[in-house]
Amino acid sequence: MCGIVGYVGNRNATPILIESLERLDYRGYDSAGIAVIDGCEVSLYKTAGSVGKLRQMIDLNKNGGCTGIGHTRWATHGKPSRENSHPHMGDKGIIAVVHNGIIENYEELKEELIGRGHVFSSETDTEVIPHLIEENYGGDLERAVALTLERLRGSYAIAVMCKDEPDKLVATTKDMPLVLGIGNGENYLASDVPAMLKFTNKVSYMCDEEIAVITSSSICIKNGSGGSVDKKIETVTWDAKAAEKAGYEHFMLKEIHEQPHAIRETLSGRISELEAEIKLKEIGLTERQINSISRVIITACGTSYYAAVLGRYLIEKIARIPAEAMVSSELRYGELVLDENTLVIAITQSGETADTIAALKEAKSHACHTMAIANVVGSGITRHTNNVLYTRAGLEICVAATKSFTSQIVALHLLALQMGRVRGTITPSQSKQIITQLRKLPGQVMEILEKSRGIEKVAVKYAANEHYFFIGRGINYPIAMEGALKLKEISYIHAEGYPAGELKHGPLALLTAGVPVVAISTYDNTYDKMLSNIKETKARGADVIAIADESDTNIEKYVDDVLRIPDTHEMLKPVLSAIVLQLLAYYTARHLGCEVDRPRNLAKSVTVE
Ligand code: F6R
Repeated sequence: MCGIVGYVGNRNATPILIESLERLDYRGYDSAGIAVIDGCEVSLYKTAGSVGKLRQMIDLNKNGGCTGIGHTRWATHGKPSRENSHPHMGDKGIIAVVHNGIIENYEELKEELIGRGHVFSSETDTEVIPHLIEENYGGDLERAVALTLERLRGSYAIAVMCKDEPDKLVATTKDMPLVLGIGNGENYLASDVPAMLKFTNKVSYMCDEEIAVITSSSICIKNGSGGSVDKKIETVTWDAKAAEKAGYEHFMLKEIHEQPHAIRETLSGRISELEAEIKLKEIGLTERQINSISRVIITACGTSYYAAVLGRYLIEKIARIPAEAMVSSELRYGELVLDENTLVIAITQSGETADTIAALKEAKSHACHTMAIANVVGSGITRHTNNVLYTRAGLEICVAATKSFTSQIVALHLLALQMGRVRGTITPSQSKQIITQLRKLPGQVMEILEKSRGIEKVAVKYAANEHYFFIGRGINYPIAMEGALKLKEISYIHAEGYPAGELKHGPLALLTAGVPVVAISTYDNTYDKMLSNIKETKARGADVIAIADESDTNIEKYVDDVLRIPDTHEMLKPVLSAIVLQLLAYYTARHLGCEVDRPRNLAKSVTVE
C-alpha cells in the first residue's frame, strides 16, 4: 500500500525522490515525506496529504544532498498525520527509515525501547526500526540493520540511511515488493518499477531476507545467511511515457481504451496455427496432471475475484472439472480440505495482494497444484509459484481495475480451453469456434469504445441516483458484481450486484420508483428468465438499463435504455459487457466530479492484510 523510494548518486536527490514518489502515490496517499543527507545533517520533510503538498513545501533547486529516501503512506498503525508519516528517525537523529508493511511485534519492542529510555514521536509500528538500528549501530550500518532484523516479526520492505555513512543506503525486504534500479553512477530503489522508470529501466527484484548495500557505484546484496547474491538485471520494456495519461483525461479512460491491445497481447502466441488448440506452457501442468485434477479453486480479491467467479463457470462448462471461486481472505483461514489433485489458481493484477499470496501459500502447504494469473512480471506472487500465466495488460495505474480484468477473463478462457481439449470435454470444432471469436474480440472492443458517447448519455441521465442495482445470471452474474463494484468505488454511489434470480429474496424491497437497475440480458439459456426479472423490477417502478446483443430487437419493449454489445460467442459476452459497465462507471464518476483515478480510502496494491 505504502510506497518507498531511494536514491544515491551525484545529483540533487530531492527532486528525484519527489518525482519518484509522485509516480508511486497511487499505492497510498494520506501522507508523504523524504529525508536527504545534507553534509553532516539529515534534512527531513514530511506532511499529511499528497506528494503534491510535499513538493510545495520544499525548495527543489537547493541542493540538499545526493542520498535520500522517501515514502507515501496509506495508514495502518496510527492516523494519517505529519508525526506518523515517514521517514522515521531514532533518538540521536542519525538513522532515517522508510518502511512498507507491518511489524507485528512492535508493541513489545516499543515497550522494551521505552524502558531503555527511547522517546517515540509517532504511533506507528515503523518507528521501532530506527530506534533499534540506532542501538545496534557501531559504525557499520549493514550490520546494524542485520541485527535489527533478528528482532522484527512481520512483513517489511525497508530502506535505511545513516548520517555517519552518507553515501549509502541499506535496503531489505520480507514478503513485500522491493526493486533496485541500476543507473549510471547512481542507483535507485522503490517498491514498484514505475517510480524509477524515468531514470532507469534496468532493475533487479529483491528476494525475502536479502540485504542490499547501495552506493552510487555499486549494489552488494547478501542473503539471509550472509552469502553474496549475484542478481539478475532485467530490462523493463515499459517506458516512462507509458505511465502517463497519453492525452486522456484520466488513467482510467486511457486504460479502458487500451483493452483491444491488452486482449490481443494476452492471446498472442498462445493459440496454435490450427486454431483449435491452446499453448500455455507456463501453467506447468502435464497432460497427465490435467487429467488427474479433480477440483479447481480460483482465489483472488476484489475485481480479480469477480474474474475468478467467471473462471469457475468457464472451467466447469468447458473442462467439466468441479470448480469454485473463493475470496482469498476466506481461503487463507478457511481450514479447507485440499489435496494434491486440487488445482488452486490465484488471480492478481498486481501480484502483491497480501491475502492472495497467503491463500496461494496455504494451498501449497496442502500439496495442491498451484498457479497464478498475474499482470506484473516478477511481482511477489511469482516467488510462490513457478507456474504463472501473465495477462500482458501492461501497467495499470488507475486504482480501479479495468484492462487487467478483461485480460484475466481472456486468460481464463485460454486455460479452460486448454484443459478442456486435454480432457476431451470440448471438441476441436467447439474450441475453434471460441478461438475464432476470441481473435475478433479486440475489434469488437473498439466498436464499443467508438460508441462511448451513448454510454456517457445514460451515465449522466442516472448519475443523481443514490442507489443502483446490477443483475445478471450465469456468467453474467460476476459481471453484475463487477459493474456494481466499479460504480461504487469511483462514483461513491451505493451499488449492489445480484444474481437476478435472487431479487425476490430480498432486494426487491429496495426497488422503488426511479432506482436504476442494470440488467445484463445478453442471449443465452437464461435470456427469458432475465426478461421476467426485468418485468418484475419494472412493475416496482425501477428504471431498467439493459446490456443487450446488437441483434436483439426485442429488448427495447421492456426497458428504459439499452446499451449494446456486438454479437459474439455467448461465453465471450462478459468481456464486452464489462467494458460497457466500466464506461458507465467512468462517465458517472466524471459527471459527479469524483477523483476517478484515486478513489478515497482505496489503494492500488493492497500489500497488507
Ligand atoms: C477494484 C480493484 C481491486 C483489486 C483488488 C485485487 O477496481 O482494483 O478490487 O481488484 O485489490 O488486486 P490484485 O488484482 O492486484 O490482486
